[in-house]
Amino acid sequence: MRSRKVRVAIIGSGKGSNAESIIRHANYEHSLFQVSLVIASKPGIGLIKKAELASIPVFVLDTSLGSMDKSAQICQQVKENTIDVIVLAGYLSRLDDAVIETVNGRVLNIHPSLLPMYGGVGMYGKRVHEAVLAAGETTTGATVHIVTHDYDEGAIVMQASVTIDEGVTAVQLADKVLKLEHEIYPVAIDKCVKLWF
Ligand code: GRF
Repeated sequence: MRSRKVRVAIIGSGKGSNAESIIRHANYEHSLFQVSLVIASKPGIGLIKKAELASIPVFVLDTSLGSMDKSAQICQQVKENTIDVIVLAGYLSRLDDAVIETVNGRVLNIHPSLLPMYGGVGMYGKRVHEAVLAAGETTTGATVHIVTHDYDEGAIVMQASVTIDEGVTAVQLADKVLKLEHEIYPVAIDKCVKLWF
């Protein structure tokens, strides 16, 4: 039996709705992990509020720094807080290899499509859903995957799909997929923790 919950850091740039759902799940007794740190890419974002409400320590990256220095800041925080797993939730920058290595490759991301479709550079936010609608798809979904050097290309950990109703807008579709993200992300983290530790 594990003697302690695995320590997770969430890194994000947005509203923090996935972080909120991950934090809620982590607080259940049966969950295998705890959220020990939240790293925000800039000040003033919703993610910070969600972490503060849950009394989770927050570190805000210095936006005046270049990407190498930001990576060094992330690595330092990960080490100081003895983080085991990094979870990206709406983090838009590419994660440096050095960061991935600090947690031995145990980095997860969620993407709002059924990867490998509608992933890769430039495919984020509303653009993903617009592309899905433009292609006339009848289903879409969300994917949790391992983060590697290349955008949205690591091994898929979990996928779930939703149907696309006729006449739906990209914003409505984004909302439907986001609800699905909230359901699968915490479960996928537990699944990986079980495998990795
Ligand atoms: C989600 O749609 C996720 O798929 C993408 O960024 C968004 C983050 O939203 N990677 P939130 O900050 O968790 O609300």
